[in-house]
Amino acid sequence: MACAVKPILIFLISIISFHVSLIASDPTPAAWPLQFHSILFMNNSGTLQHVDLWYDWPNGRNFNIIQNQLGKLTYDLEWDNGTSYIYTTLDSNKECRVLHFPVGILRPDWLDGANYLGQEEKDGFLCNVWEKVDFIWYYEDVVTKRPVYWAFYTGYTAHVMTFEVGAVLEDSHWQAPLYCFKEAQEKGKPLPLIEEFLVFSSFFSIGNERFGNFGPCQGIIAKCQYDIK
Ligand SMILES: *[C@@H]1O[C@H](CO)[C@@H](O)[C@H](O)[C@H]1NC(C)=O
Ligand SMILES: *[C@@H]1O[C@H](CO)[C@@H](O)[C@H](O)[C@H]1NC(C)=O
Repeated sequence: MACAVKPILIFLISIISFHVSLIASDPTPAAWPLQFHSILFMNNSGTLQHVDLWYDWPNGRNFNIIQNQLGKLTYDLEWDNGTSYIYTTLDSNKECRVLHFPVGILRPDWLDGANYLGQEEKDGFLCNVWEKVDFIWYYEDVVTKRPVYWAFYTGYTAHVMTFEVGAVLEDSHWQAPLYCFKEAQEKGKPLPLIEEFLVFSSFFSIGNERFGNFGPCQGIIAKCQYDIK
């Protein structure tokens, strides 16, 4: 009798422990869709911004169109080859900065390796929360897996207002204006104009901040010190 029961018990125990281990493993953040458009409401220590984010991984480009409250409209066009164009269009003195980063735009899996912190309600949504390299706290809707909110270590926060998976901005909008190229030519020097950063992956330079967690300098955090005059 005992001989027949034992294998069944072992079988049951192994099934139970298998399920327990599944339950116990922490949730992981969803990778970013390869292409999406998102409207973000940002708060930089009381300075409010409306940001149109166009993430386009297959085409190696990322666009932040930043409207400061009752202020400047700034374009931050980032290419995966490391070149970024930061420009305004409406001012009479058309401004452009060309920046070079040693790495390109964020990878869709940039949240890999983030530490799970548990669940929290944010903006009325129940979220899973992760933290990565003490740089960013990321909130994702438990049910839909969409990002809801994130906060940088500086207190710069983003509320995700829309998240249109698959939306792509037409090619014609990705052309930096002519004066971005003129500036470099007139000064008789090639791009880049500003190269004071040690950065290994771009992230939302809308905060004048980028962070890296890839390559040889894992975990290094760098701040872009440039300012748009
Ligand atoms: C923006 O953030 C500041 C804290 O940095 C806070 O006092 C203020 O209420 C926030 N504004 C909005 C509209 O959320
Ligand atoms: C990166 O790509 C953009 C868009 O094609 C281009 O304007 C820029 O010159 C390139 N940068 C480098 C360093 O090749």
